[in-house]
Order: sequence, then structure tokens, then C-alpha cells
Amino acid sequence: MFEILQTKANTHSRRIRMDESRPTASKKLAHPSARGPLIFADTAVIEDIKPLYDAGIVSGVTTNPSLIKKAGATNQAQAIKIAKDLIAMTCPNPTLLELTELTEEAMVAQAIEFAGWGDNVVIKVPVGGYKAVDDCFDAYTGLKVIKRLWEKDIRCAATLVFNSTQALWAANAGACFVAPFIGRLGDYLYSNDHPERKSGNSLYWIEDHKNSNGDQNVSNSEYVASGGERKDIGPRLIQEISTIFTNYDIHTQVLAASFRNFSQITECLLAGADILTVPSNLLEQVCEHPLTSKGMATFYQDSKVFI
Ligand code: E4P
Repeated sequence: MFEILQTKANTHSRRIRMDESRPTASKKLAHPSARGPLIFADTAVIEDIKPLYDAGIVSGVTTNPSLIKKAGATNQAQAIKIAKDLIAMTCPNPTLLELTELTEEAMVAQAIEFAGWGDNVVIKVPVGGYKAVDDCFDAYTGLKVIKRLWEKDIRCAATLVFNSTQALWAANAGACFVAPFIGRLGDYLYSNDHPERKSGNSLYWIEDHKNSNGDQNVSNSEYVASGGERKDIGPRLIQEISTIFTNYDIHTQVLAASFRNFSQITECLLAGADILTVPSNLLEQVCEHPLTSKGMATFYQDSKVFI
């Protein structure tokens, strides 16, 4: 289980300098969680999101090409319709749309088009990986696009973040959000584990090594941040980023993504995430804890005495 290694007083003090997540200007009763962490829905299926949006639990949506495809889009027109419906539903809260172009100019043009669909659009920009698509692409494309969008006052989120250095680079380029994929990191660790290696502290121990297949370099700040056998790599990454942003008063929000289970949700909150984007299979289970259901059934039975 993830260990809480620090008090969160500094994180709190950073958050109170941020804008309120849920402003309540016209309300007498101030919102008790005005600066609480936000929950976004990590799905493009409106029916999955609507009830939680109406209940004030979910206040934004993250999408990517895979999620839009999963929501049923089989062509560009359908993808645009899904995106626009999400933007309308979440307004004024954010809908994150991921760029699909791969060159700087085309990405900036696409971002301007997406941003024109609503003031609540946030552009998701892959932080790197461009050369994996084709060696002709520029490795720094994502960071350059983030900087260009910041210059144009277009909010963007750096996506596919897997270490704290990527997060810092993105923040310095001008990203308003960084999205570390904590579930994919955990998945990776489970399939590439080195049980012989001791856990340590990534902030002080920098070294590269090969994964168990010997075919890929894994930065030690990723492996050791996992706590080795403890397999809490995701929450520890959130803690690293949150601590670095706190130390330097960086207001880029840490948007923890790629959840697989409820433990990761709790651990990321303890680690200082500002926003969690949660897939619909987890969102729909929140109200249904077996003891909640059992307690509710008993209360209902007992209340009949008073009716
Ligand atoms: C984040 O914005 C991504 O859409 C998402 O969290 C990726 O999660 P996955 O690893 O389940 O695909």
C-alpha cells in the first residue's frame, strides 16, 4: 500500500492560491469542497456521465481517440458530434479533446478548430512519442505545440505522461494540466518486474536499467518510484509531480488518469492529485458498496415503524 511520506500542508497552501474549482458566487451557502479535487469522467459515452454530472460528482470529461471510437464513432462526422455533445453537456466545465494531427502546424490548426467549439474545451497534446509513429516526426512536437497554444491563450493538457520530468517540461512549456497514466504504469510494472531489485527513493537514486526482457531501457525514476515490489508506481508518480509542483509553486493541475481500481483512486488523492479522471466502469460502482446497500436496506425496513 502506498505510504504517505509527507504532510500535505504545502500542497494545501498551493491549492488555496489556485482558482476555486467550484465557484459559488451567488450562493449563501459556500460550497464545502470549493477547492476539493475534481472528478472527471474518462469516457465519451454521454449516458454514462449524465447522472453523475447532474449530481455534481463529475465536473468534466476526458476523451481520446480510443474513447471516442468506443463511444460509437466510425467516421469523422460522428466523432465531431460526440465531441460537441460532450462540450455542450459539461459547459462551463472542461471537455478535453485530444489532437490527432502529428505535425506542429497541423496540430496548432486543429487545436484552434477544437477550441472554437466552446470556451470549455481543453486541448490534449501527447507530450511525446511522435517518433514512435514515424521517425520523420520531431520528438519535441508536443512541447512546441503546448507552448504555441499557451501563447494563444488556449488551455491544454499534456497527455501520456509517465514520469515527473515529462510533467515538468510540459508545465514549463505552458500546459494547464498534466495527465500521468498511472494505471498503464502499473500494468507495465506487473509485466516487466525485477523482483531482485530493492525499492528506493527516485528523488535520490538515478540510474537506467533494462527491463526483464533486456530490450528496453527503463528509467530508474520510473522503476524505483514504484517502490519495487510494492507496485505503487502510479501514486508515487503523482506524489513526485505534486511535490515538485508544490515546491516551485507551479499551478499546472495534476490530472491523474488511467485508473484500474478504487485503491488507485484513494492513493492518488493521498498523493496530492488535483483532478482524477475515472472510467465509467468505476464511476458506476461508487454508490454500490455492499455494506452501503446492506445498511440502506436495514434503515428502510426499520423506517417502516414510523410511517
Ligand atoms: C486520460 O485522459 C486517458 O483518456 C485515459 O485515462 C487512458 O486510460 P487507459 O489506460 O485506461 O486507456
